[in-house]
Amino acid sequence: MSEQIAEAVRLSPSELRTLFLFESLEDDQLAWLSENGYCQTWSGGQSVYNEGEPATCFFILLSGTLSMHRRVENTEVETARTNQRGVYAGATQSFVKGLAEQPYWASVRAVTDCDFWVIAAMEFGEKFREWFPMAVHLLEGMTVGFRSSQAIIGQRERLLSLGRLSAGLTHELNNPAAAAVRATASLRERVSKMRGKLAHLATADVDPKALVALTDLQEAAVEKMAKAEKLTPMEVGEAEDQLSDWLDDHGLDDAWDLAPTLVAAGVDTDWLDEVAESVPATLLADALHWVTYALETEQLMLEIEDSTHRISALVGAAKQYSQMDRAAHQDIDVRDGLNSTLVMFKHKINESGKITLVKDYDESLPMIPAHPAELNQVWTNLIDNAIHAMPDGGTLTIRTSQDDGWVLVEICDTGIGIPEEMQQKIFEPFFTTKPVGEGTGLGLDISYRVITQRHGGDLRVRSHPGDTRFQVRLPLTEPPSFG
Ligand SMILES: Nc1ncnc2c1ncn2[C@@H]1O[C@H](COP(=O)(O)OP(=O)(O)O)[C@@H](O)[C@H]1O
Ligand SMILES: [Mg+2]
Repeated sequence: MSEQIAEAVRLSPSELRTLFLFESLEDDQLAWLSENGYCQTWSGGQSVYNEGEPATCFFILLSGTLSMHRRVENTEVETARTNQRGVYAGATQSFVKGLAEQPYWASVRAVTDCDFWVIAAMEFGEKFREWFPMAVHLLEGMTVGFRSSQAIIGQRERLLSLGRLSAGLTHELNNPAAAAVRATASLRERVSKMRGKLAHLATADVDPKALVALTDLQEAAVEKMAKAEKLTPMEVGEAEDQLSDWLDDHGLDDAWDLAPTLVAAGVDTDWLDEVAESVPATLLADALHWVTYALETEQLMLEIEDSTHRISALVGAAKQYSQMDRAAHQDIDVRDGLNSTLVMFKHKINESGKITLVKDYDESLPMIPAHPAELNQVWTNLIDNAIHAMPDGGTLTIRTSQDDGWVLVEICDTGIGIPEEMQQKIFEPFFTTKPVGEGTGLGLDISYRVITQRHGGDLRVRSHPGDTRFQVRLPLTEPPSFG
């Protein structure tokens, strides 16, 4: 760090008194500082200290211009630039027990040649505690207390929304999983019956040619099923009646059992006539049962396939929601995040039975730079609030559009609305109208910070009874202080 130490150049107590930090110190205090601090020069372009290095020194700018930088992801962002004599930087919290060992939280560079007054953080911190015990207590209470309460509360809001979402997801997963388990059990039963039938046919001294004809019949029926048109309940009833009659006429006594499966597969009496012609009359019943089992197993397998596809789609949505496999900051399509958040709320929306979901998406929306996991937290809160505002049902509209250089996302509900005088308050931390345990009052505070500070965007509300819109504007290009 030290480039050109101006051989232990000290500042006299009276020079130190001209720095605003020290203007009201006692003579003996200034004398101590004068002995322990020294002057040091950095030439323009040099780095004074770097973010992340152990914070060993406290610096006061005497002359020149400095700039301050913070690393955000992989780029460096300039957060301040000043030539004000007396500004301080470096190990500014060395007096707080427990924070003394912390690294520098930013980097400082000399923009022009700079003179600093420098002092070792450890000794300075110790003296500071000795001189100002009460101030230190108060500051410690504030910094440490504020940090931990912010962290605890932020975590609680995240946990609450995670809880709401995992409840929805669990419910969504449960249906297809239970369906797959049921279908598998039925499949096992059918397959075992089919084995029985095969054994029966094999011992019944059937012409091998007829066996071939039977397997061909099965293939044809399965193919027919894949192409079968969907019938209305009325058409299904009629078709089942017709098939039952035909089966009765041909001596099958469990017509009621076979007819529904055959109808679902698109089988009609013409097809049954063909079957009757291609197999000996003695084998007709066995042949039709054989075909029916094949159709049933096929249907069950389709059901299992469908359920397992739904399960993987849900897991995919959950993964996309939590952004488990993505970088923290990237170009995204906001509709993806909105969709995966909606999957998590599907259960809640369906459960109410009275909320209609309308997605009004601009098809030509451009990609924007964003922190997708954080945006998902915003969508979660806005959608959760909107659903909560419509206990008697209504319409939830998610709209995306482009608005003069911004991507605009609107979450609209037709609920109770927010009185004019409350519209500013709702963004304050801890403001909630929900019962204890249900709301934290932090959702909108966090959302606002995520949108404005992290994305350089804007979050506004417009509300009348029956028409409330939360409008999120996100810039199309990266703001200079993205992070
Ligand atoms: N869509 C909405 N309709 C009516 N009131 C709302 C809506 N969104 C938010 N609010 C009001 O704003 C308050 C604060 O919301 P928020 O910060 O998310 O905290 P919480 O949801 O935990 O109460 C809510 O308690 C509610 O009174
Ligand atoms: Mg909320």
